[in-house]
Amino acid sequence: MAQQFPDAPYLNGHHTPIRFEAEAPDLIVTGEIPDDLAGVFYRNGPDPLYPPREDSYHWFDGDGMVFGFFIEDGRVSMRNRWVRTDKFEKELEAGRKLYGAFGNPMTSDPAIGDTRYNTGNTNIVLHGGKLLALMEGAPPVEMGARDLSTISEYHYDGAITTTFSAHPKVDWGTGEMLNFGSMIHGPMGPKEIRYDHIDADGAVTGSEIIEVPFTTLMHTFLATENWVVFPVMPLEISLERMMKGGPMTAWVEGREARFAVMPRNGSAEDVRWFTMPPRHMFHELNAWEEDGRIVAIVASSHRAPLFPNEQGEMPEHSETRFGLTKWTFDLSGDTNEVQEEELTDRDMQFPRPDDRKMMRRTRHGFCNINIRARDARAEGLDAVMRIDTETGAEDLHDFGKGAAAGELIFAPRLGGTDEADGYAMTLVYSPETNETDLAIFAAQDIANGPIARVHIPFRVPGGFHCNYYSADSDLYRRAFGA
Ligand SMILES: [Fe+2]
Repeated sequence: MAQQFPDAPYLNGHHTPIRFEAEAPDLIVTGEIPDDLAGVFYRNGPDPLYPPREDSYHWFDGDGMVFGFFIEDGRVSMRNRWVRTDKFEKELEAGRKLYGAFGNPMTSDPAIGDTRYNTGNTNIVLHGGKLLALMEGAPPVEMGARDLSTISEYHYDGAITTTFSAHPKVDWGTGEMLNFGSMIHGPMGPKEIRYDHIDADGAVTGSEIIEVPFTTLMHTFLATENWVVFPVMPLEISLERMMKGGPMTAWVEGREARFAVMPRNGSAEDVRWFTMPPRHMFHELNAWEEDGRIVAIVASSHRAPLFPNEQGEMPEHSETRFGLTKWTFDLSGDTNEVQEEELTDRDMQFPRPDDRKMMRRTRHGFCNINIRARDARAEGLDAVMRIDTETGAEDLHDFGKGAAAGELIFAPRLGGTDEADGYAMTLVYSPETNETDLAIFAAQDIANGPIARVHIPFRVPGGFHCNYYSADSDLYRRAFGA
């Protein structure tokens, strides 16, 4: 018999787990689904099957649950399925949580045996004809692109058997996917990351091992047509500190941020290190090359959210809010200092470009932003925005008090190729109905409000990443065979 969940942050309000799987063949829509919109919108996020073993719960620790919205012939069907990893199946069989938070061996039940801790809860991407649920600390989990059934952990024919980033980058020009694995030897092993090239067919064509100065929670990286940048932020993972009674993952105050800059097809010997004052980022909007420089637009903060400092003190939301910032790495100059320019101090979460233009210069950024909440991650972000990163102009829609909007994703119109020619969509929770809608906007007129709201007849808990694949894209065709 499943037990009650504790009343803890990220287990209550709009985050409360739903703990069921559903499907709906033709959802009710207010407004119109445009004729030139067809494809699939996926969303991944945590929906813990059982209450945690500890007194507290970390948002990143829940079992992955994938939602798929299939937009075809002007109608929308949906399905949600847990990412049924070996961990999930083992706990379902036991009827309770067996794993400590993040798989912590000190708080796990010995019954876990040698099963890997894999929640598959962070991102959900199509590449090489496969749908992959990603969680950063373990290999991808392959799922059926349409039925969302869990197939198995996916190891690229044995080429990748350890960690796999939740933010690989697909170069839509070549079809290649670039990826990294952080902490490849675990928290006690040598401080190394792995950088992977995966071709459009899904074959690993090369991996490179790069030494890093300390073990960090490396969540994303930057990629351009010719360069990659691995950020080593002051959010350090240390088992030694944990053994002494401190937090395993902690913000190390005063430590500078470091960046390993490397030619995209280069090797570890080519790495040049850049630095900047203490900064954190979980997500970038995009990166590209410009006049001998790497330009990156990132959501950056002065301290990492959701994790304590070395003394165990949690930060206030105001210390950790992300604003949109332009970082410049001057490859031709003498300085190894990253230059920084603030574009907006709007409190935001997940900036996204037109994915088709990733690694090339883009102008439009799509973001979910917070207008009212004191702690936007726990309470929810109540608005979405397109920002013109060249002029700073905002194109914004406010969903109102208590709303919780997820990542705002650009969705191209069929046949369109220009940047931001199409639509933008997000899942948004409404406190009035206690339900969630998929809100669809004209991409360059967010301020006009949604042109369609697809009504989901229940609440979708707050989650992490979404992706949209247009039915006329190569990534979609390889997975759906269309
Ligand atoms: Fe992320």
